[in-house]
Amino acid sequence: MEQDIDQVILTAAAIAARNRELAADLAADYAGRKLTVVVLSNGALFFAADLLRLIPLPLQLDSIGVASYIGEKSEAVELRSDLKTDVQGRHVLVIDDIFDTGRTLQAVSQHLRKSKPASIRTCVLLQKEVARETSVQPDYRGFAIENVFVVGYGLDYNEHYRNLPYIGVLKPEAKRTGPRRKQ
Ligand code: IMP
Ligand code: MG
Repeated sequence: MEQDIDQVILTAAAIAARNRELAADLAADYAGRKLTVVVLSNGALFFAADLLRLIPLPLQLDSIGVASYIGEKSEAVELRSDLKTDVQGRHVLVIDDIFDTGRTLQAVSQHLRKSKPASIRTCVLLQKEVARETSVQPDYRGFAIENVFVVGYGLDYNEHYRNLPYIGVLKPEAKRTGPRRKQ
């Protein structure tokens, strides 16, 4: 797995430090509010698990399964599983791994609005610096990165590499052959 990485762009330590800052912002903004965190799985699982443990507020946790990527190509956003809790009147914070075209968070926000939450905000670990077809922006963001395909810390290439503790760029040959089995 490690040998497929060309370059580490965010170390585990850098991610942890930024998570502490984001958590402090979120804790201040959501104090005293009825908070429901909606994690978009699978990509945001690792980020959300670390971030939420740094937020000392009462909150409800839910998740939505979305798929929008086949390999590196962006496809239509598909909802694979829905909320299990009632978010009506609650302040919803949607957590995702990365904001690329913005289509995923736009589609999810649109879907969640039907459940009549008091508010919807979005928090992403990464945002790619690209020209966007949508006008939506994340409300909270860990890092801006160049327009490169990254894996690790929840981000995958065809479901592989999610469990790398850092974020890196794949070697071109790893994309062609798929991940090597030996770690
Ligand atoms: P968007 O809908 O174009 O904003 O894409 C967001 C989704 O695409 C994220 O939830 C990721 O699952 C996936 N994605 C976008 N860029 C990358 C990447 O560089 N590596 C892995 N997944 C990505
Ligand atoms: Mg994803």
